[in-house]
Amino acid sequence: MNAIDEPVFATARLHLDRLAGSDAPSLFAYRGDEAVARFQGWKPATIDEVEAFIARQTAQPFAVSGSWFQLAIREKAGGELLGDLGVHFPPTRDDAIEFGVSLRPDRQGRGYAREAMGAMLDQAFGPWGYRRAVGSVDPRNVASIALLRSLGFRQEAHHVEAYLFRGEWVDDVIFAMLAREWPRSG
Ligand SMILES: CC(C)(COP(=O)(O)OP(=O)(O)OC[C@H]1O[C@@H](n2cnc3c(N)ncnc32)[C@H](O)[C@@H]1OP(=O)(O)O)[C@@H](O)C(=O)NCCC(=O)NCCS
Repeated sequence: MNAIDEPVFATARLHLDRLAGSDAPSLFAYRGDEAVARFQGWKPATIDEVEAFIARQTAQPFAVSGSWFQLAIREKAGGELLGDLGVHFPPTRDDAIEFGVSLRPDRQGRGYAREAMGAMLDQAFGPWGYRRAVGSVDPRNVASIALLRSLGFRQEAHHVEAYLFRGEWVDDVIFAMLAREWPRSG
Protein backbone atom coordinates (compact mmCIF):
# COMPACT_ATOMS: atom_id res chain seq x y z
CA MET A 1 0.00 0.00 0.00
CA ASN A 2 1.28 3.49 -0.81
CA ALA A 3 2.07 5.60 2.24
CA ILE A 4 -0.85 7.37 3.88
CA ASP A 5 0.05 10.62 5.60
CA GLU A 6 -0.99 10.90 9.20
CA PRO A 7 -3.87 13.33 9.43
CA VAL A 8 -3.59 16.08 12.02
CA PHE A 9 -6.50 18.20 11.11
CA ALA A 10 -9.30 20.37 12.30
CA THR A 11 -13.03 20.37 11.65
CA ALA A 12 -15.33 23.23 12.67
CA ARG A 13 -15.19 22.25 16.36
CA LEU A 14 -12.62 19.44 16.62
CA HIS A 15 -8.99 18.48 16.31
CA LEU A 16 -8.09 14.89 15.40
CA ASP A 17 -4.56 13.78 16.21
CA ARG A 18 -2.53 11.13 18.05
CA LEU A 19 -3.33 10.08 21.59
CA ALA A 20 -0.74 11.27 24.12
CA GLY A 21 0.36 9.90 27.48
CA SER A 22 -1.44 12.80 29.20
CA ASP A 23 -4.77 11.51 27.78
CA ALA A 24 -4.67 8.40 29.98
CA PRO A 25 -6.88 9.59 32.91
CA SER A 26 -9.56 10.98 30.61
CA LEU A 27 -9.52 7.96 28.29
CA PHE A 28 -9.69 5.61 31.26
CA ALA A 29 -12.70 7.52 32.64
CA TYR A 30 -14.85 7.19 29.51
CA ARG A 31 -13.55 3.87 28.12
CA GLY A 32 -14.07 2.34 31.57
CA ASP A 33 -17.65 3.64 31.64
CA GLU A 34 -20.19 0.81 31.53
CA ALA A 35 -22.41 2.44 28.88
CA VAL A 36 -19.50 3.34 26.58
CA ALA A 37 -17.96 -0.14 26.92
CA ARG A 38 -21.21 -2.10 26.62
CA PHE A 39 -20.75 -3.11 22.97
CA GLN A 40 -16.96 -2.81 22.76
CA GLY A 41 -14.31 -5.48 22.90
CA TRP A 42 -12.13 -3.39 25.23
CA LYS A 43 -13.09 -2.11 28.68
CA PRO A 44 -9.94 -1.14 30.57
CA ALA A 45 -9.85 -2.35 34.16
CA THR A 46 -6.92 -0.17 35.30
CA ILE A 47 -5.23 3.03 34.20
CA ASP A 48 -2.05 0.98 33.63
CA GLU A 49 -3.89 -0.84 30.86
CA VAL A 50 -4.78 2.50 29.27
CA GLU A 51 -1.24 3.81 29.59
CA ALA A 52 0.08 0.65 27.91
CA PHE A 53 -2.50 1.03 25.12
CA ILE A 54 -1.49 4.65 24.50
CA ALA A 55 2.20 3.72 24.60
CA ARG A 56 1.61 1.07 21.91
CA GLN A 57 -0.31 3.58 19.80
CA THR A 58 2.41 6.19 20.24
CA ALA A 59 5.02 3.74 18.98
CA GLN A 60 2.93 2.59 16.04
CA PRO A 61 3.32 4.20 12.62
CA PHE A 62 0.13 5.49 11.06
CA ALA A 63 -1.87 3.32 8.62
CA VAL A 64 -0.16 -0.04 9.06
CA SER A 65 -1.91 -2.54 6.81
CA GLY A 66 -4.17 -4.87 8.78
CA SER A 67 -4.09 -2.85 12.00
CA TRP A 68 -6.28 -0.46 13.97
CA PHE A 69 -5.11 3.07 14.72
CA GLN A 70 -6.90 5.08 17.38
CA LEU A 71 -7.02 8.85 16.86
CA ALA A 72 -7.88 11.33 19.62
CA ILE A 73 -10.98 13.49 19.12
CA ARG A 74 -10.34 16.80 20.87
CA GLU A 75 -12.30 19.94 21.37
CA LYS A 76 -10.65 22.59 19.19
CA ALA A 77 -11.09 25.28 21.81
CA GLY A 78 -9.12 24.07 24.82
CA GLY A 79 -7.91 20.71 23.52
CA GLU A 80 -10.02 18.59 25.89
CA LEU A 81 -10.19 14.89 24.93
CA LEU A 82 -13.77 14.13 23.88
CA GLY A 83 -13.30 10.62 22.57
CA ASP A 84 -11.43 8.47 20.10
CA LEU A 85 -11.91 7.27 16.56
CA GLY A 86 -10.50 3.91 15.52
CA VAL A 87 -9.54 3.28 11.90
CA HIS A 88 -8.80 -0.19 10.57
CA PHE A 89 -6.52 -0.08 7.52
CA PRO A 90 -7.08 -3.08 5.24
CA PRO A 91 -4.37 -4.69 3.09
CA THR A 92 -5.27 -2.80 -0.10
CA ARG A 93 -7.30 0.24 -1.24
CA ASP A 94 -9.73 -2.24 -2.84
CA ASP A 95 -10.67 -3.57 0.58
CA ALA A 96 -12.97 -1.77 2.98
CA ILE A 97 -11.66 0.69 5.55
CA GLU A 98 -13.44 0.37 8.89
CA PHE A 99 -14.24 2.89 11.62
CA GLY A 100 -15.39 2.86 15.23
CA VAL A 101 -16.06 5.88 17.49
CA SER A 102 -16.34 6.30 21.26
CA LEU A 103 -17.23 9.53 23.02
CA ARG A 104 -17.31 10.64 26.65
CA PRO A 105 -20.90 10.19 27.89
CA ASP A 106 -21.17 13.87 28.88
CA ARG A 107 -20.22 14.99 25.38
CA GLN A 108 -22.52 12.71 23.39
CA GLY A 109 -25.54 13.97 21.48
CA ARG A 110 -23.87 17.15 20.22
CA GLY A 111 -22.94 15.98 16.74
CA TYR A 112 -19.25 15.48 17.58
CA ALA A 113 -19.14 11.84 16.43
CA ARG A 114 -20.82 12.78 13.14
CA GLU A 115 -18.36 15.63 12.63
CA ALA A 116 -15.31 13.44 13.37
CA MET A 117 -16.53 10.58 11.19
CA GLY A 118 -17.35 12.99 8.37
CA ALA A 119 -13.78 14.27 8.45
CA MET A 120 -12.46 10.70 8.28
CA LEU A 121 -14.71 9.82 5.36
CA ASP A 122 -13.42 12.92 3.55
CA GLN A 123 -9.88 11.56 4.05
CA ALA A 124 -10.72 7.95 3.25
CA PHE A 125 -12.58 8.67 0.02
CA GLY A 126 -10.36 11.64 -0.89
CA PRO A 127 -6.57 11.56 -0.45
CA TRP A 128 -6.40 7.99 0.88
CA GLY A 129 -8.23 6.60 -2.15
CA TYR A 130 -10.52 3.98 -0.57
CA ARG A 131 -13.68 3.00 -2.40
CA ARG A 132 -15.60 1.38 0.44
CA ALA A 133 -16.05 2.03 4.17
CA VAL A 134 -17.76 -0.24 6.71
CA GLY A 135 -18.97 -0.27 10.28
CA SER A 136 -19.80 -3.40 12.29
CA VAL A 137 -22.25 -2.97 15.17
CA ASP A 138 -24.36 -4.88 17.64
CA PRO A 139 -28.00 -4.29 16.61
CA ARG A 140 -28.78 -3.15 20.17
CA ASN A 141 -26.29 -0.28 19.80
CA VAL A 142 -28.91 2.25 18.70
CA ALA A 143 -26.68 5.33 19.01
CA SER A 144 -24.00 3.82 16.80
CA ILE A 145 -26.55 2.71 14.21
CA ALA A 146 -28.13 6.18 14.22
CA LEU A 147 -24.69 7.70 13.68
CA LEU A 148 -23.91 5.43 10.73
CA ARG A 149 -27.31 6.01 9.14
CA SER A 150 -27.07 9.77 9.61
CA LEU A 151 -23.79 9.73 7.66
CA GLY A 152 -25.43 7.76 4.84
CA PHE A 153 -24.20 4.22 5.56
CA ARG A 154 -26.52 1.46 4.29
CA GLN A 155 -27.20 -1.76 6.17
CA GLU A 156 -25.79 -4.61 4.10
CA ALA A 157 -25.95 -7.62 6.38
CA HIS A 158 -27.28 -8.90 9.69
CA HIS A 159 -25.30 -11.87 10.91
CA VAL A 160 -27.23 -13.77 13.56
CA GLU A 161 -25.33 -14.99 16.65
CA ALA A 162 -22.13 -14.26 14.78
CA TYR A 163 -19.65 -14.27 17.65
CA LEU A 164 -19.26 -15.02 21.32
CA PHE A 165 -19.02 -11.80 23.31
CA ARG A 166 -18.63 -11.89 27.11
CA GLY A 167 -20.25 -15.30 27.26
CA GLU A 168 -23.20 -14.44 24.98
CA TRP A 169 -23.72 -15.18 21.27
CA VAL A 170 -24.42 -11.80 19.68
CA ASP A 171 -25.56 -10.54 16.29
CA ASP A 172 -23.37 -8.39 14.04
CA VAL A 173 -24.86 -5.83 11.67
CA ILE A 174 -22.72 -4.55 8.82
CA PHE A 175 -23.14 -1.03 7.45
CA ALA A 176 -21.29 0.17 4.36
CA MET A 177 -20.78 3.16 2.12
CA LEU A 178 -19.09 3.50 -1.27
CA ALA A 179 -16.99 6.54 -2.17
CA ARG A 180 -19.52 7.58 -4.78
CA GLU A 181 -22.26 7.54 -2.15
CA TRP A 182 -20.45 10.05 0.08
CA PRO A 183 -21.99 13.42 -0.76
CA ARG A 184 -18.71 15.28 -0.30
CA SER A 185 -16.76 12.96 -2.66
CA GLY A 186 -14.95 14.97 -5.33
C1 LIG B 1 -22.02 6.07 19.02
C2 LIG B 1 -21.57 7.40 19.60
C3 LIG B 1 -20.11 7.63 19.25
C4 LIG B 1 -22.43 8.53 19.02
O1 LIG B 1 -21.90 9.77 19.48
P1 LIG B 1 -22.70 11.14 19.49
O2 LIG B 1 -21.70 12.25 19.59
O3 LIG B 1 -23.75 11.10 20.51
O4 LIG B 1 -23.35 11.16 18.05
P2 LIG B 1 -23.81 12.48 17.29
O5 LIG B 1 -24.27 13.50 18.30
O6 LIG B 1 -22.77 12.88 16.31
O7 LIG B 1 -25.12 11.93 16.53
C5 LIG B 1 -25.07 11.37 15.23
C6 LIG B 1 -26.49 10.98 14.86
O8 LIG B 1 -26.91 9.87 15.66
C7 LIG B 1 -28.09 10.19 16.39
N1 LIG B 1 -27.97 9.61 17.72
C8 LIG B 1 -26.91 9.66 18.55
N2 LIG B 1 -27.17 9.01 19.69
C9 LIG B 1 -28.42 8.51 19.56
C10 LIG B 1 -29.25 7.73 20.40
N3 LIG B 1 -28.85 7.32 21.62
N4 LIG B 1 -30.49 7.38 19.96
C11 LIG B 1 -30.91 7.78 18.74
N5 LIG B 1 -30.16 8.54 17.89
C12 LIG B 1 -28.94 8.90 18.31
C13 LIG B 1 -28.11 11.70 16.45
O9 LIG B 1 -29.44 12.21 16.60
C14 LIG B 1 -27.52 12.06 15.10
O10 LIG B 1 -28.49 11.94 14.08
P3 LIG B 1 -28.74 13.16 13.04
O11 LIG B 1 -27.39 13.48 12.43
O12 LIG B 1 -29.70 12.58 12.07
O13 LIG B 1 -29.27 14.28 13.88
C15 LIG B 1 -21.73 7.43 21.16
O14 LIG B 1 -23.08 7.13 21.47
C16 LIG B 1 -20.82 6.47 21.89
O15 LIG B 1 -19.68 6.83 22.19
N6 LIG B 1 -21.32 5.26 22.22
C17 LIG B 1 -20.55 4.29 22.99
C18 LIG B 1 -19.39 3.71 22.23
C19 LIG B 1 -19.83 2.78 21.11
O16 LIG B 1 -20.58 1.83 21.30
N7 LIG B 1 -19.29 3.06 19.92
C20 LIG B 1 -19.52 2.25 18.75
C21 LIG B 1 -18.50 1.20 18.63
S1 LIG B 1 -18.65 0.36 17.06
